Amino acid sequence: MAEAERYYVTTPIYYVNDAPHIGHAYTTLACDALARFMRLDGRSVHFLTGTDEHGQKVEKSAKAAGMAPKDFTDKVSQNFRDLAKAMNFSNDDFIRTTEERHIKSCQELWRRLKERGEIYLGSYAGWYAVRDEAYYGEEELTLAPNGKRIAPSGAEVEWVEEPSYFFKLSQWGDKLLKFYEENPLFLAPDSRRNEVISFVKSGLRDLSVSRTTFNWGVPVPDDPDHVMYVWLDALTNYITAVGFPDVSAPSYRKFWPADLHMVGKDIVRFHTIYWPAFLMAAGLQPPHRVFAHGWWTNEGQKMSKSLGNALEPHAMVERYGLDQVRYFLLREIPFGNDGDFSHRSMVHRMNGDLANDLGNLAQRVLSMINKNCGEQVPQPGAFTDADRKLLGSAYGLLAKLRPLFAEQAFHRALETIWQVVGDSNRYVDEQAPWALKKTDPARMATVLYVLAETVRHIAILVQPVMPDSMTKMLDQLAVPADARSFAALGEDGALKAGTSLPKPEGLFPRYVEETAQ
Ligand code: MSP
Repeated sequence: MAEAERYYVTTPIYYVNDAPHIGHAYTTLACDALARFMRLDGRSVHFLTGTDEHGQKVEKSAKAAGMAPKDFTDKVSQNFRDLAKAMNFSNDDFIRTTEERHIKSCQELWRRLKERGEIYLGSYAGWYAVRDEAYYGEEELTLAPNGKRIAPSGAEVEWVEEPSYFFKLSQWGDKLLKFYEENPLFLAPDSRRNEVISFVKSGLRDLSVSRTTFNWGVPVPDDPDHVMYVWLDALTNYITAVGFPDVSAPSYRKFWPADLHMVGKDIVRFHTIYWPAFLMAAGLQPPHRVFAHGWWTNEGQKMSKSLGNALEPHAMVERYGLDQVRYFLLREIPFGNDGDFSHRSMVHRMNGDLANDLGNLAQRVLSMINKNCGEQVPQPGAFTDADRKLLGSAYGLLAKLRPLFAEQAFHRALETIWQVVGDSNRYVDEQAPWALKKTDPARMATVLYVLAETVRHIAILVQPVMPDSMTKMLDQLAVPADARSFAALGEDGALKAGTSLPKPEGLFPRYVEETAQ
């Protein structure tokens, strides 16, 4: 299959020591919207998510819960699978780093690196932050009032001294810089790209890639006192899932290198420095692109366990509705920037963009058709300029959306669709089909047809972001199940006059403040 026809997108794999919060749901949601868009656009998609189950942090959490690490991870990894279900994520696979397929894959990657002389045995003495599972140099740390040293991420570090294998990262600086230069799309947004380039330019040290002071990890081949550094283990999931170490497997050949690793801004360095260096050093291809999105705060505050203010996805879905939450997260802030969640802005989007603009448009059009056109798609007459203009903007949407999805500009994609929603609402007001009912019923039928056809386009194109509601909207337009992909956009898939339509129902209820009820 030709390269352009497949699409491999991945989320980071989530640490299981935390209960899933909206930040986790956000990363996967962005991938879900992309995966759905690409599938509807005819691509063969592989969408991967999963859980990161090894490392000192998880071992500590298991101990605190009084459980064996494997029992602990079996239990908590389920929370992330439940989240995927609750958020209607369409992932094709869910990988766990404790699976046999993955352990085999990590060990094979290690062997390759070792064979090529990229890994050597030494000893590590330095600072380590368990919370980040990351090593830090003395110069990066600050001193807290209690005398503890703190990493730039805010995590406490501890002094570690142990035998360790090292990966020769110091030798990859120039090759990485060349790679970034030759692949301008590899890392987005630009601010992150510049940050990574200047970090690499400042010089890279060899990276400690094994630990001996705990056991909860993938054993190093031929040296079982060591377990692999959890990031080497974790990053490898992206190739495990497509069949590594069998590089001749059809899935590996089809899907690797990945089209996109979606990550949060906190884990950019791991994905854009360590990961391409590991892969190139093992003679494998680096991924095509990494996009680093921003972080959400809650009503202006950083979400944290100690503040107990983490936004819980199930509770949000219960309160506002699933598609409303999905829409809000992708529409509210420019993708890539940080964003603040507030109840007020959530309700504003729900009641404005969804209930008033899109919901009202569909409801008005469908109920006028239901009442005045015999519950059937009306028969259009000749189109006027105004009709052609509105239809033209609907027909032209896909061409505008493709580049926006390709650069992960979800907010702009939605804004572009909502311009047509706005045009449609203005067209209804100008054409006033309710007045035509008496004066010119044939013209009323044409106007309602143009509107229904425009709503069909909007519904098909909004499916990646709000799949449930758009399925219902397409049901109400009696669009057959096999005519809901992007191939059905434009005149070829146009609604057929005379098709019976079901009774319309509102899709986006207004949020009414509890206190006002
Ligand atoms: N296990 C590593 C990833 C390994 S990938 C090979 C990890 N896991 S994590 O569970 O801590 O974080 C996963 C993702 O959630 C990251 O992309 C992170 O940026 C994202 N978020 C965590 N909190 C967030 C917010 N408050 N807002 C948005 N995203 C946030 O890192």
